[in-house]
Amino acid sequence: MGMIIAPSVLGANFGRLAREVERVNASGADWVHLDIMDGHFVPNISFGPAVVQTLRPLSKLFFDAHLMCSKPEILLEPFARAGANQIDIHVELGEAVTPLLWKIKSLGQKVGLVVNPPTSISLVQPYLEQIDFLLIMTVNPGFGGQSPIYETLPKIQQAHAWRREKSLGFKIGVDGGIDFKTSAECACAGADTFISGSTLFGRPNLGAAVRKLRKVTEAAAAATRKAAPLRAERALEGQVP
Ligand code: DX5
Ligand code: ZN
Repeated sequence: MGMIIAPSVLGANFGRLAREVERVNASGADWVHLDIMDGHFVPNISFGPAVVQTLRPLSKLFFDAHLMCSKPEILLEPFARAGANQIDIHVELGEAVTPLLWKIKSLGQKVGLVVNPPTSISLVQPYLEQIDFLLIMTVNPGFGGQSPIYETLPKIQQAHAWRREKSLGFKIGVDGGIDFKTSAECACAGADTFISGSTLFGRPNLGAAVRKLRKVTEAAAAATRKAAPLRAERALEGQVP
């Protein structure tokens, strides 16, 4: 399974969004990550379906809409119509999660589930067979440019172990503070999808940054597979921190 590199538009220059998306198209990235914030679930507001609809004709890339919203049920159809390919909702929404996942699927969208740093990874376990994408937040959502919270790394290992044990196919993503170093650490733990805002958009040459992110994560994953299968097994058994 190849690595997915997903620039997060939150890190783009909003004053020239169309040109920023064209930069992503030319960069060799796989997905466009769209951070949707409602000013309630997170203490910030980003953009809505109208902006996504404006960007849709500019790119053939896979649009991943990350809904940091308290009432995603009112936004699923608008984002599907605006051209999203995948919609990610947060597991912190509790009882609402199951109907939301079904609704996303019924709209013909890929299904993503997101878990915040303070939330136990065990909360996502009941849904693993229903999702295409598990997104492990490596920062508290709301703002780009934060440092990652390293305590989230064991959650990646746990998700990776569950996926292998159950022979499931969901992707494991990380979001927040992902740079050329932290991405490699997440890749060692089992992540295969890398959301990155400020690191990628902050570089004048976005294509070179995407290639570098792909290279360091592939190398980290290959080294982990080759050199440390035993260590990985022990880590999964909780013997290694
Ligand atoms: C955080 C968002 C992230 C954010 C990542 O609330 O969900 O997608 O854009 O930005 P960086 O890569 O700058 O941490
Ligand atoms: Zn995000």
